[in-house]
Amino acid sequence: MKKILIINGPNLNMLGVREPEIYGNQTLNDIEKLCLNKASTLDFEIDFRQSNHEGQIIDWIQESKDVFDALVINAAAYTHTSIAIHDALKLLDCPIIEVHLSNPEEREEFRHISYIKPVSSAVIAGHGAEGYEMALDKLSELLQ
Ligand code: DQA
Repeated sequence: MKKILIINGPNLNMLGVREPEIYGNQTLNDIEKLCLNKASTLDFEIDFRQSNHEGQIIDWIQESKDVFDALVINAAAYTHTSIAIHDALKLLDCPIIEVHLSNPEEREEFRHISYIKPVSSAVIAGHGAEGYEMALDKLSELLQ
């Protein structure tokens, strides 16, 4: 069974309340359930986490090395600012999928840069909560 770490960055704990017109009505808990259901069909074991703290996210990335088979990350606003998360992701040898609920490239200019993209195997953006399921499908292809 492949072990997949899913990391969610700042403010994603507020999904359902936060700008539902952009991010939808589903809570992060709902998205975790979607991922767990999807994972059971793909024979994946999922560890689903969220933090508002850059250092915590970096610690999780470092600790995941050689423990998890792949990483799904929605780094939220840190996507557009964090060279430190970019550097941490470079430590990993496993597939990394960048996920966003919205499509940052169609939003404000400050969201157009992603420090995650250059170290990711794929980017899935603009598909709402379903993007997380799509990321797991993509991983099942990549981990064949
Ligand atoms: C986001 C997009 C980011 O620009 C934003 O800062 C987020 C959420 C998304 O999932 O659409 O917090 O990563």
